[in-house]
Amino acid sequence: MKVYIFLAITSLTFGFHERVVSNPSPGPYNAIFNFGDSLSDTGNFLASGALSYPVIGKFPYGQTFFNRSTGRCSDGRLVVDFIAEAYELPYLPPYLALTKDQNIHPGVNFAVAGATALDTKFFIEAGLGKFLWTNDSLNIQLGWFKKLKPSLCTTKQDCDSYFERSLFLVGEIGGNDYNYAVIAGNITQLQATVPPVVEAITTAINELIAEGARELLVPGNLPIGCSALYLTLYRSGNKEDYDGNGCLKGFNDFAEYHNKELKLALKTLRQKNPHARILYADYYNVAKRFFHAPGHHEFSSGALRACCGGGGAYNFNMSARCGHIGSKVCADPWTHANWDGIHLTEAAYRYIAKGLIYGPFSYPPLKTSPYKIA
Ligand SMILES: *[C@@H]1O[C@H](CO)[C@@H](O)[C@H](O)[C@H]1NC(C)=O
Ligand SMILES: *[C@@H]1O[C@H](CO)[C@@H](O)[C@H](O)[C@H]1NC(C)=O
Ligand SMILES: *[C@@H]1O[C@H](CO)[C@@H](O)[C@H](O)[C@H]1NC(C)=O
Ligand SMILES: *[C@@H]1O[C@H](CO)[C@@H](O)[C@H](O)[C@H]1NC(C)=O
Repeated sequence: MKVYIFLAITSLTFGFHERVVSNPSPGPYNAIFNFGDSLSDTGNFLASGALSYPVIGKFPYGQTFFNRSTGRCSDGRLVVDFIAEAYELPYLPPYLALTKDQNIHPGVNFAVAGATALDTKFFIEAGLGKFLWTNDSLNIQLGWFKKLKPSLCTTKQDCDSYFERSLFLVGEIGGNDYNYAVIAGNITQLQATVPPVVEAITTAINELIAEGARELLVPGNLPIGCSALYLTLYRSGNKEDYDGNGCLKGFNDFAEYHNKELKLALKTLRQKNPHARILYADYYNVAKRFFHAPGHHEFSSGALRACCGGGGAYNFNMSARCGHIGSKVCADPWTHANWDGIHLTEAAYRYIAKGLIYGPFSYPPLKTSPYKIA
C-alpha cells in the first residue's frame, strides 16, 4: 500500500487527481486476480520460504523500482504491476502474505515463482521431482482462490456483480513445466507435455468461470529460445540452430507450438462459455519485437545478454546466478531486456504490458484504460 501511495503522488498526472476527487466512478475493472509463476509472482514464493531461490529475497532484486526485494523475480515491476497501474488499482498483495486487515477487494495474487500448470505428481513420475522449486501448482493456487472467496463476496448475486468487473489473469503458466525438463537436460518428452499442460490451463479457466469469472486474460509462452538460460544450456556450434536474432529456433518453434495449442483450446472455451470474455495475451509476438530489434525499442544493451549474472556469452552462469557470489549487476538495467538470465527486466515487462493494454497483443482487446502508464 505504501508503494501505491508513493506512486499516486509521484507519477500520476494532475488530471488523474482531479478526476478522482471530482468523479469517484472507477475504471473498467474493480479487481484483478492473478494466477501464474515467477513472471507474475509479487511475493508468494518469498513468503513460502523461497528455499530453492533465496536470492530473490535480497538486492539486486527490486533495485530499480521498489528499492527493496519484494519477491518479484526482476529489478522492478512485472506485467501484472503495470496492468494494475493502468487500471488504477493497487499492486496485488501476495496471497501467502495477506494480513488480517488487508483490503483484498481490489484483488489478490496467487502466482508462485517456479509453479507449474501440472501438479507435482507429474514431475515426480517423470523423475524431475528434485528440480521443482515449489509444489504450488495452478491447481493449488485455484484452491487458495476458492478458500478466499467467502471473504470477497457472499451471495451469488453479490459475487456475480463483483466478478463481472474483475479481471482474471490465468498465466503465464506452463513455462516451468517445460523448464524443469530443459534444466534436467532431458527434453525427449517436451512435445508430449504440451497437451496435458494446455488441459490443466483449460480446466482452471473452466473452474474460474464456474466460480463467477467473466473476463479472463490468458498469456501464452515467451520466445524461450531467446532466453539466456536456454541459449547457455543448449549452446550450439551449428549456425543453423539459430534464427536471425540469435535465438534458438527449435525452442522458439516449441513455444509457438504450445501457443497454437493453447489458442485452439481457448477457441473451444469461448464457444462453450459465450457469457465469458476469454482473451489471449500474445507474449510471444510482443516480446519478439524487442528480440528482433532491441535497439529500436530502447534496449540498447541488447535483448539476449542478462543484466545480472556470472559471465559467459549471455552473462548467465548456472553456478553464479544473479545475486550469488561471482555475479555482477549491470549499471543500466533499463537498457537490457533480460534481467537474470531466466527473467526479464522491469523495462521489458513494461514493454509487454503496454502491448497488451494499448494493443495489439491481446485478442480480443482488454477494456480501454483511461490512464497511460509511463
Ligand atoms: C534505498 O534503500 C536503501 C537501504 O536499503 C537506502 O539507503 C536508500 O536511501 C534508498 N534509496 C532511495 C532512493 O530511497
Ligand atoms: C527422459 O524423460 C522420460 C520421461 O519424461 C523418461 O522416460 C526417460 O527415461 C528420461 N531419459 C533419461 C536419460 O533420463
Ligand atoms: C513437494 O512435495 C513433496 C512431497 O510430495 C516434498 O517431498 C517436497 O519437499 C515438496 N517440495 C517443495 C519445494 O515444497
Ligand atoms: C561460472 O561460475 C563459476 C563459479 O563462480 C566459475 O568458476 C566459472 O568460471 C564461471 N564460468 C564462466 C563461463 O564464466
